[in-house]
Amino acid sequence: MGKDIIVNYDHQPCYEIKIRDSFDELSRSIQLMNEREYLRICIVTDTNVESLYLKEVLLKLSIDYPDTYITSFTFEAGEGSKNLDTVNRLYQKLINDGFGRKDLLIALGGGVVGDLTGFTAATYLRGIDFVQIPTTLLSQVDSSIGGKTGVDFDQYKNMVGAFYMPQLVFINTSVLKSLPSVQISSGMGEVIKYGIIRDFEFYEWLDSNVEQVKALNNEAIEYVIYKSCMNKKEVVEEDPKEDGIRATLNFGHTIGHAIEKLSNFSLYHGQCVGIGMIAAAYISMKRGIVTEGEFFTIMNILDSYDVCPTLPALDANNIIAATKHDKKMEGDTIKFILIKGIGISYIDKTVTDNEMKEAIDYIFSI
Ligand code: GLY
Repeated sequence: MGKDIIVNYDHQPCYEIKIRDSFDELSRSIQLMNEREYLRICIVTDTNVESLYLKEVLLKLSIDYPDTYITSFTFEAGEGSKNLDTVNRLYQKLINDGFGRKDLLIALGGGVVGDLTGFTAATYLRGIDFVQIPTTLLSQVDSSIGGKTGVDFDQYKNMVGAFYMPQLVFINTSVLKSLPSVQISSGMGEVIKYGIIRDFEFYEWLDSNVEQVKALNNEAIEYVIYKSCMNKKEVVEEDPKEDGIRATLNFGHTIGHAIEKLSNFSLYHGQCVGIGMIAAAYISMKRGIVTEGEFFTIMNILDSYDVCPTLPALDANNIIAATKHDKKMEGDTIKFILIKGIGISYIDKTVTDNEMKEAIDYIFSI
C-alpha cells in the first residue's frame, strides 16, 4: 500500500509526496528526505487537528528521535487566524526555543496550517526546512503541493507570501475518515477540477466511481489523491511561479473566490470553486466552445459529489466587483480560465462583465 511521487523544481528532484494510510512511515520518511539530523522540530497545528492527531504524531516522532527537542504550536482553527499576527507568535516561539536554520517545522493540518507554516519556514532566518502533513482532502490534493505559501492581509486573501518548497509532503489517507462530509465534498471540487481542466480519463473515472469515493474506499481514495497529485505535479513542474499554464489551476476560482469572500468564508473553498466552475463552464458553453451536453455532465458530476452549497443571497454586481480585487488580475485584465470541452482549458483575458453577470444569474437560478 502506498504511492510515492517525486516533484521536480527547476528540472531537479526537489521533494517527495508520500501517500500512505497511517503515520507509521512518517519518521523514516523525514530521515530519508535529506542528510540532516534535526536538533529541534516544531509541529504547527490548529485547534481542530490538535485534539485529533497531534498526540499521535508527537509520540511517534519522540520515539524515533529521542535526542531531538520536539515541540508544538497550536493556533485557533479558521481563516481568521491566517495572518501576520499568528506568524509573529510563531516566530516568537521559535526564537524563545532557540530554533536555528538547521531545524524543522512540520505543518499538521489543512490549507491554513500549511500555508502559514510554509510562509513562516520561508521567512524565519531566511528559510528553514518544512514538511507538510495535510489533513484535509483539499490540502492533500492541492494546497500542500507546489510551494505556494502565505497569509491573508487585511481583507486580501493570500496577499503576503512566498514560493517555498517543502522537503516532504506526507499524506495519511486514513485521517480523511475523521472529516465531516462537507470537507470531503469541498475537496472533491478541486479533484474534479483536474479532470475538467486537463485529464478527461480521470474525469470519466470519477464519474463512474462516485459511490466508492464517497464511501472513502481505501483503494478509490488513494487513486483520487494520487491522480490529483500527479496532475498538480505536472502543472507546477512546467510552470512553478504561475507565469502561464499554472493559472489554469485557477479554473472556477475567479467567481469562486469572490463568492467565498463575500460570504465571509462561511462556505468552504472547494464548494465555492464548484460554483465558480459552473459559472466558467456556462460562459464557455455560451461561447460555443463547450456543448450543452458537456455542460450538463459537469453540473451532474458536481451534484453527484455534493460539491455546490446553497448560496447565501449575494448581489451579482458585488461579485463582479470582488473579482477585480483578485490576485488573478494582470493589470486591469482578469485572467479567466475557460474550457474547450472537458479536459482542455486555457487562459482567456476577454471575458466581459456581461458574460460574468449572465453566468452569475444562472448559478443563482439553479
Ligand atoms: N491552488 C492553485 C495553485 O497552487 O496554483
